[in-house]
Amino acid sequence: MKPIVAPSILAADFANLEKEISMINESQADWVHVDVMDGVFVPNISMGIPVVEAIKRYSKKPLDVHLMIVRPEQFVEAFRKAGAEVISVHVEACDHLHRNIQQIKALGAKAGVAINPHTSIQTLENVIDQIDLICVMSVNPGFGGQKFIEGTYKKIEGLKKLIQNSGSKALIEIDGGVNQDNAQLLLNAGADVLVAGNFVFSSGNPKEVIQRLKSLG
Ligand code: DX5
Ligand code: ZN
Repeated sequence: MKPIVAPSILAADFANLEKEISMINESQADWVHVDVMDGVFVPNISMGIPVVEAIKRYSKKPLDVHLMIVRPEQFVEAFRKAGAEVISVHVEACDHLHRNIQQIKALGAKAGVAINPHTSIQTLENVIDQIDLICVMSVNPGFGGQKFIEGTYKKIEGLKKLIQNSGSKALIEIDGGVNQDNAQLLLNAGADVLVAGNFVFSSGNPKEVIQRLKSLG
């Protein structure tokens, strides 16, 4: 199966967002991955609701919004209105994860749950049949351009089993440090969605890099 490819706009040139989004529109990318950071859940601040609205105005591809924020339930409705089609919250940021997932689904978005590198996949056992996507962090969230954590492969394999045993249809998304060395191996392990920031935007030819990722499988 061909992967879903989601370039991460965090690595784009923020002074030329319209141009960067046009590039994604013309490319074989499936989604635009949008990283929202609050400086509390993660040690960095990125972009908020007005920027997501602006991206939505130009993007022909669905927005996959990754909320790295505390108390996400306060903001999911605003991000949905801003144009998010997939909304992922962090398991580590949710005291009432089941309720948060229902909230996202009730807004008509696809519900994703992100897990940090230290978080066990067992934390998802009781909600796995409720979610559309699991965002497996393959770096510690907060920054683009970090080194891929090798333990991710084992996590994907375990997650795949958990999904199959529960009858869940959740997609496995890998976020952080995806590049030419690990992309095929991630798909072999069971990944469905590849997020790529620096690998795409730091290359001389982003469209060609997206096409290369898309041709794996
Ligand atoms: C990290 C973000 C990632 C990041 C990926 O906190 O969630 O989506 O943009 O960037 P690269 O591919 O450069 O690691
Ligand atoms: Zn992300």
